[in-house]
Amino acid sequence: MPSTVILGTGSYAPARVLTNAELSTMVDTSDEWIRTRSGIRERHIAAPGESTSDMAVHAAKAALQDAGLAPTDIDLLVVATVTPDLVLPAASCIIQHKLGLRTDTACFDLNAACSGFVYALDTASAMVASGRYKKALIIGVEKLSSVVDWQDRTTCVLFGDGAGAAVLGVSDQPGVGLLGTKLGAYGDCVDLLYITHGGSDNPTTPESIAARNHCIRMKGKEVFKIAVRAMDEAARDILEQQGVTADQIALVIPHQANLRIIEAISQYLKLPMERFYVNVDRYGNTSAASIPIALDEARRAGRIKSGDITLLVAFGAGLTYGSALIRW
Ligand code: UT7
Repeated sequence: MPSTVILGTGSYAPARVLTNAELSTMVDTSDEWIRTRSGIRERHIAAPGESTSDMAVHAAKAALQDAGLAPTDIDLLVVATVTPDLVLPAASCIIQHKLGLRTDTACFDLNAACSGFVYALDTASAMVASGRYKKALIIGVEKLSSVVDWQDRTTCVLFGDGAGAAVLGVSDQPGVGLLGTKLGAYGDCVDLLYITHGGSDNPTTPESIAARNHCIRMKGKEVFKIAVRAMDEAARDILEQQGVTADQIALVIPHQANLRIIEAISQYLKLPMERFYVNVDRYGNTSAASIPIALDEARRAGRIKSGDITLLVAFGAGLTYGSALIRW
């Protein structure tokens, strides 16, 4: 099979920045607590009326421009999100229309929470490598501000909004592009990070809204421990699978949930923090958007050079996990 390569990337964050100082006027918290426990200083919040699809379109346009392609060149769109504009239909169909993609473009959403972009990369790469699709657009996008409980200090300080995108195609050059992926999930941990209402088990009711049960609930400490273990294992598995050693990795782009989680992975892999791309301080946790925003920033900042090996590694609600190795 030919190798799949990333032809371009793009990202977008809403203009509105919510600082820790401002949050501490909304709930009983402090800049000091948020910074020392999570590494987050600020996050972006979508403007009133700014939808998930709007943010996705901004990131997608930047990725298409970076790739030198037109919307009509795309024949596959995969959107990773847990906050689609609507429950039905898929955000990808709304984005297809807003972007002006062809009507014979295959469109679907994928929910793997914060691992969503790695899942989308794996899925779209396989579809492109099969030859049945030529150019894929993959987007990780979230409007988490719409499902955060702004009265719950244990979660509202952590999340933010944004979008990141990548365009995939094939290359005849051997040994470049997506070298491999490792995906998985611990389905026995669904009760650690969830939204109880608004799905088919518990449709929204006036009572559930009053109790804010349409919002994210999380057992942070438990998630933290499993996240470190899952990301470390996912990283080691993909390195072993591809016969690559940790010191050969030029840059790790981890899911940006908590600086302390990234520091723990750095210690476990015995890779210095300089080799990790970190922007959690400026975005908070943007779930499926976190890795593609970081990837786009890293490329544009010149942190990724031709021949470099990059490791993407993520975990999220599910609890899902995923890793990917890319040679540029
Ligand atoms: O993408 C996946 C998404 N999830 C994650 O990545 C989350 C992973 N978990 C974490 O990042 C961390 O567990 C948190 C940042 C959520 C919390 O850090 P922690 O060090 O595990 O703190 P904790 O939950 O043990 O809370 C310590 C104390 C508690 O008070 P007591 O019981 O010691 O009196 C909390 O009530 O801090 C309190 N606390 C706060 N205080 C000020 C919890 N949230 C806040 C807050 N401000 N925002």
